[in-house]
Amino acid sequence: MKRNVWKLMKRPEGMDFEDALSLIEEDINDISDGNLIVKNKIISMDAGTRMWMSDREDSYQPPLEIGANMVGVCLAEVIETKNPNFSKGDLIRGFGEWADYAEVNPESFLKLTAGLDKDEAYLSVLGLNGWTAYVGVMEVGRPKKGETFLVSAAAGATGSLAGQIAKKAGCRVIGLTGGKEKCSWLTDELGFDVAIDYKEENLDKALTQCCPEGVDIYFDNVAGPILDTVLQHLALYARIPLCGLIAQYNEKESRSPGPDNFDQILMKRATITGFFCPDFLEEGPKIEQIMQEWYEEGSIKFRADITNGLDNVLVAYKRMFNGNNIGKTLVKL
Ligand SMILES: NC(=O)c1ccc[n+]([C@@H]2O[C@H](COP(=O)([O-])OP(=O)(O)OC[C@H]3O[C@@H](n4cnc5c(N)ncnc54)[C@H](OP(=O)(O)O)[C@@H]3O)[C@@H](O)[C@H]2O)c1
Repeated sequence: MKRNVWKLMKRPEGMDFEDALSLIEEDINDISDGNLIVKNKIISMDAGTRMWMSDREDSYQPPLEIGANMVGVCLAEVIETKNPNFSKGDLIRGFGEWADYAEVNPESFLKLTAGLDKDEAYLSVLGLNGWTAYVGVMEVGRPKKGETFLVSAAAGATGSLAGQIAKKAGCRVIGLTGGKEKCSWLTDELGFDVAIDYKEENLDKALTQCCPEGVDIYFDNVAGPILDTVLQHLALYARIPLCGLIAQYNEKESRSPGPDNFDQILMKRATITGFFCPDFLEEGPKIEQIMQEWYEEGSIKFRADITNGLDNVLVAYKRMFNGNNIGKTLVKL
């Protein structure tokens, strides 16, 4: 059987993904005992995968080898099985490949039985982003009623969920994002109290105005200059769940200088905590159940930014880094 898969042919420079990745046709031969052949239905675009394309050895995941298949979270249907726990037609989610078909070891997949109304929800509210948002807000941020919660990349997959969860915890929620449409989505549909268009407004002034008592929790998805500005607006004993560094993933020098205002961590006795959602594996089922309940009762919403076709994976991937996505970036096959 033939299949098509994206392979990493060289390390990308910045966002030159077309030059670095190629879609290659190859054969899937005999399936090994215990494995499955799956047909991907949706491939999740996740900003963190950019780090695996670089040759950094000190990341939380070793770099992909040159020539390796590009990996990522997928929603897939089982079409052939040599595993007694899976049947043809099962819907599964897990770490797969940017491909139309793949042979997978089901150990890194979960059979989906939640019966959600939309397949896209399994790759946003449920799954990696929902889980990350929940852990970052509830376990790392430790919100208290009435606190001021700020989130960057607020109209993205993770940020939009983090803000809604913080709102549920009783916080006043402020989102930072680029563009009017994204700001309106946050305040008009998701219930954020304030949305700041950081590309148009002076962030320092806007934060002075809307956070006069300072920011208690800053859920940081981006780092870079935004983090530096926010450090000047921390409340005493602020917490910073450090979720991601998207402002620097495409930089030539993957290591940026530290923030100028780092001293504010001491001045405000603040805590900055990096967290990585796979470290919370044991809590996965509990978190999925909570997120599903919230989603089904309508108190947590998501939006999917869909691109069609395996050929267009890099179009979707770039949309996310250019900030053209609203909500979760997905590729439907
Ligand atoms: N720690 C973990 O376990 C974990 C798990 C999942 C995701 N993450 C991290 O969470 C962050 C968000 O990822 P996601 O997959 O949910 O993507 P996303 O937020 O849906 O999309 C990325 C968004 O980042 C913003 N952005 C891009 N470049 C930027 C820059 N230079 N400065 C400021 N904002 C920029 C853009 O929105 P704007 O319009 O707002 O600029 C863009 O829409 C990433 O840093 C990712 O690595 C971490």
